[in-house]
Amino acid sequence: MSEVQTVKYAVEDGVGVIAIDNPPVNALGPGVREGIMDALATGNADPAVQAFVLIGIGRNFMAGADIRQFGGARPVSTRTSAAAIAESGKPVVAAIHGYALGGGLEHALACHYRIAAPGARVGLPEVSLGIVPAGGGTQRLTRLIGPKAALDMIVSGRHVGAAEALRLGILNEIVDVPTLRSAAVQYARRIAATRPLPSSQAEVRRPLPADELAVLFEDARKSLLRKSRHLKAPQKALALVEAATSRTFEEGLALEHEFFKELENADEAKALRYAFFAEREAAKIPGASPLVQPSPVRSAAIVGGGTMGGGIAMAFADVGVEVKVLDMSQEALDRGIKRIRDNYGVSVKRGSITQAQMDERLAKIRGVTDYADIGDCDAVIEAVFERVDLKQEVFSRLDQVMKPGALLLTNSSAIDIDIMANATKRPQAVAGAHFFAPANVMKLCEVVRGSATPIETIARTMKMARDLGKVGAVAGSCDGFAANRSRTPMMTEMMLMLEEGALPEQIDRIMVAFGYPMGPFAVNDMSGLDVSYEGRKRRAAADPGYRKLHIPDRMVEMGRKGQKTGAGWYRYAEGDRTPHPDEVVKQVIAEVAKEFGIVQRTFSDEEILHRALFASVNEACRILEEGKAYRASDIDVMWLYGFGFPRHRGGLMFWADSVGASAILAQVQEWHERYGKRWKPSVLLERVAAAGGRLRDATAPQ
Ligand code: 3HC
Repeated sequence: MSEVQTVKYAVEDGVGVIAIDNPPVNALGPGVREGIMDALATGNADPAVQAFVLIGIGRNFMAGADIRQFGGARPVSTRTSAAAIAESGKPVVAAIHGYALGGGLEHALACHYRIAAPGARVGLPEVSLGIVPAGGGTQRLTRLIGPKAALDMIVSGRHVGAAEALRLGILNEIVDVPTLRSAAVQYARRIAATRPLPSSQAEVRRPLPADELAVLFEDARKSLLRKSRHLKAPQKALALVEAATSRTFEEGLALEHEFFKELENADEAKALRYAFFAEREAAKIPGASPLVQPSPVRSAAIVGGGTMGGGIAMAFADVGVEVKVLDMSQEALDRGIKRIRDNYGVSVKRGSITQAQMDERLAKIRGVTDYADIGDCDAVIEAVFERVDLKQEVFSRLDQVMKPGALLLTNSSAIDIDIMANATKRPQAVAGAHFFAPANVMKLCEVVRGSATPIETIARTMKMARDLGKVGAVAGSCDGFAANRSRTPMMTEMMLMLEEGALPEQIDRIMVAFGYPMGPFAVNDMSGLDVSYEGRKRRAAADPGYRKLHIPDRMVEMGRKGQKTGAGWYRYAEGDRTPHPDEVVKQVIAEVAKEFGIVQRTFSDEEILHRALFASVNEACRILEEGKAYRASDIDVMWLYGFGFPRHRGGLMFWADSVGASAILAQVQEWHERYGKRWKPSVLLERVAAAGGRLRDATAPQ
């Protein structure tokens, strides 16, 4: 019997059970691959052992390579330990529960048989980390399930559940028993004498005729160019699946290795690894006790059945939580519920959910018109119009009806949480849960802490966000909180660059080239130019020094509100969403420039990009300086999940480090002189630049 730290080996009933024990997720950390190989060698030399079981201890089978080890040396590769499994003289059965991902699934694929618990999930998510599988996964999976299904899984990186994995041919059996380990030992005993052993290195199962294969790869290539032209990893993954259909197993492995080496330390992989850990870091709340588990939200109410409220209600229904939608009149309610029904209808048409799922989700949503009907809910989220008096009234009503212990949340995107908290006698129950439109799709939930909000309320709201499948990140209360506040300067500079002679289509082209799926002006046309109009009016009224944005104001006043009015920053043909540059916009720009005596000039692409993003970097530094976000990486998470910032750039602050704090500061100082106080360098930016540090490591004062 051998025992390596993270791999436990024991013989049970003539079966060598190799159990991975590397919490929290059984990543292939130091010693795991070696431990598997040692155990195989011991068992293969032991006449009392007829077969092996490879299993995980804890919540998962194996979550794949240890991501923290990337970029450094690994004494043994996944390719080597997977080969040791495939070459074992005695059969190896993978017994999967929880996740088998990346290198974890690659080990399972090298096994001769795979059984799983019903809740298991498997996948090769490497592309989402900017790399490709390098333990034979692309070659084995393609041979096992055929090029079509393998291409889909490997290029997208998506996980599949046990039932789908069985259907695809990844699993031999799903075992629905209390102890997977003993079922696996039984299974191993049953197949122990089977020879020859099945191999996922042999011929491709479910092959396609050559012409269909060519079309499959050609279509996939085109789709990648359309959807993720900036990313190298999915393209390499595609080439590897193609290689699995045309080359020997060994040649395919060599290519995997070559591509992996090429990608592992490239900027794309570094940014994506950073984003992976930034997301997990954002879940950590300084001061929260790790021993206290916040209680889940099992029922929710939404006040306001408009677009935002409806989207939030859908987010609850999507994860099976009962949700009530409260609106003032039956008519408003009917409109809101109809919108929800229509949205689900679109998903059914698109094939992303079934009719049965739609019915199930709709059944979770109940419309009510009386506050008394929502009092028993665990949480309520106010999503009414952004008007202070309205919010105060809603919160005072909520205070009267909600049961003790309920969370009182606001979806406000800018109004100080304390205003709502002070309208109640329980300010400790009040926090922000700021969703991003469309709320059932966008993954960010910005959790906002008012001055009376205790850490327990924040922790419970963060748990609610996580249970909704959202990525939560905490902000302090201030105008715009952390997400919108850090983005506003970028949008402001873009509008001001228009005054100086840039065009919407030029700025959009630059931001798309940077990696955004759509340009900000095209997006603004979709969401509606009028959305930010009121906010600007409010700010202008509150601040006499506020710099008005004449061009977007004028567009709204002209009725150019975006796609819904057929014209905004672009012009749209009836029933068509294709944006066409519009001479009228040029005229508006020229008029405003003339009226205010602004000199028109041309901009380089770099100036546009830097002026837009540096303004936000400077503001993000101020937000941190004021303690309105815990960490720079939290702001990056907000940009990634709330604003579609290109993930392969890591996030605003990660990207900023690629330019360097000193270079950014020098430019900010120059623009401060030229454009005035809005460009005043933040103290934090100055400090990081002086210390030669990284912006992404910046935190709020402790
Ligand atoms: N390496 C290192 N740490 C990992 C890890 C990994 N592969 N996967 C998860 N962790 C860590 C997380 O950072 C987190 O640490 P923390 O508590 O200190 O913040 C902890 O494990 C728990 O992770 P989650 O909060 O994400 O736990 P969940 O239960 O929500 O999710 C999971 C579990 C689905 C496994 C998710 O963690 C995940 O997707 N992990 C990454 C899986 C992956 O991408 N694997 C492929 C790696 S690449 C590879 O295998 C290359 C090979 O081909 C050679």
